[in-house]
Amino acid sequence: MSKNIRVLLPEEEIAQRIAQMGQQITEDYKGESVFLVCTLRGSCFFACDLAKRIDLPLTLDFVKASSYGSGTASSGKVKFDLDVELSMEGRHVIIVDDIVDSGHTLQALLSLFKDRGAKSVRVATLLDKPDRREVDVAVDYVGFAVPNLFVIGYGLDFDQKYRNLPYIGVLESD
Ligand code: PRP
Repeated sequence: MSKNIRVLLPEEEIAQRIAQMGQQITEDYKGESVFLVCTLRGSCFFACDLAKRIDLPLTLDFVKASSYGSGTASSGKVKFDLDVELSMEGRHVIIVDDIVDSGHTLQALLSLFKDRGAKSVRVATLLDKPDRREVDVAVDYVGFAVPNLFVIGYGLDFDQKYRNLPYIGVLESD
């Protein structure tokens, strides 16, 4: 399964960085509670691990958003396949994403959640691909900035496979 995969970020490095992010969030929201919104599917591994490293009262809910249309280029239009169920009015929301690429998904989520009366909305992402950004979105907590490579593992897929790799790898062609 792993013969064409180059390890980019080993499991231990990811765990260490997530612990730091959790500590930072704990300090930043001291005395408050936080509402984590996990963006399915890719961020489920990261969201669960990050949540365990946040020492605050915490609520967890889920959203699934995807781009309209087909092809590899982002259309910039986002639809919601699964919405958050719990009320976020007056809550400190943190959107937890596995990767920020064009930024369209985040832009749509930020706008939606602000409209719903969240007290604040911030973003935590495990990976950031700044070279791919098409819209200007503020990302508050970044695990790792990565180059424009096809990354898989730790939630990220290629054709729905490899999400269960415990590390982040790069799929290399033969
Ligand atoms: C990925 C990722 C982000 C989004 C980022 O999800 O999880 O949510 O794309 O892309 P953007 O910055 O260009 O909007 P994807 O749609 O691949 O779904 P998945 O999590 O189910 O793999």
